[in-house]
Amino acid sequence: MVEFTLPRNSKIEKGREFPAAGGAGNPKSFDIYRWDPETEDNPRMDSYQLDLDSCGPMVLDALIKVKNETDPTLTFRRSCREGICGSCAMNIDGTNTLACTKAISEIKGAVKVYPLPHMPVVKDLVPDLTHFYAQYSAIKPWLQTKTPPPPDRERLQSKQERSSLDGLYECILCACCSTSCPSYWWNSDRYLGPATLLQAYRWIADSRDEATGDRLDDLEDPFRLYRCHTIMNCTRTCPKGLNPAKAIAEIKKLLVARR
Ligand code: SF4
Ligand code: SF4
Ligand code: FES
Repeated sequence: MVEFTLPRNSKIEKGREFPAAGGAGNPKSFDIYRWDPETEDNPRMDSYQLDLDSCGPMVLDALIKVKNETDPTLTFRRSCREGICGSCAMNIDGTNTLACTKAISEIKGAVKVYPLPHMPVVKDLVPDLTHFYAQYSAIKPWLQTKTPPPPDRERLQSKQERSSLDGLYECILCACCSTSCPSYWWNSDRYLGPATLLQAYRWIADSRDEATGDRLDDLEDPFRLYRCHTIMNCTRTCPKGLNPAKAIAEIKKLLVARR
């Protein structure tokens, strides 16, 4: 019989424990995934107990507190702390989301924090998004035109044309959706995934863009687009409340309509 075993270093071990300082009035545990590529060690879960009475309200506040006060080696990305840059995307309490907009008070028991799933890890909570960004770049995410612009003004849109970009332009490319998508987990070498497909549709839906036919040609492929099986994890997880599954369905409808 065939036996499957995980590679030795894929097993997550129990890590170190850092109790809260004495006299903590409102203690809460944060179990955080740690992995350092410069050691031979397996990944581990370190447990940090913080006093919420001296911590900001969001999970990102807790991570910053750990880094500033307990363990400066903890590594994670963040920038805006406003849900705008997308860099603090991680898996918190079993869901991909933004650490800066996830309230600690929403989580019962210990807060479990992992990097985005099914991505190579650079260190601790930092995933390697190189391939994700290469896929985004492949859909040519900029306005493509063939006709010259009007000499005396910008390319204009009606209010209605502009409103067709609502629900698309707000995407911050955090990768929460793509890394929650089972089709993307297994086929990310060829399937573009919900984030990139939502972005592709953002340009297809733009009334000023004149490369719609080329864009649809590039997507008409059993893997690049049609690996989406409408499982909807993407839409459930998007921390900006967007609907990548709907954007994918709109692309499919346009491909059917032009046959
Ligand atoms: S659609 Fe939502 S989850 Fe996906 S990358 Fe954009 S903002 Fe993030
Ligand atoms: S709807 Fe499509 S893109 Fe979204 S999670 Fe499901 S398979 Fe992935
Ligand atoms: S730090 Fe920018 S989205 Fe969280």
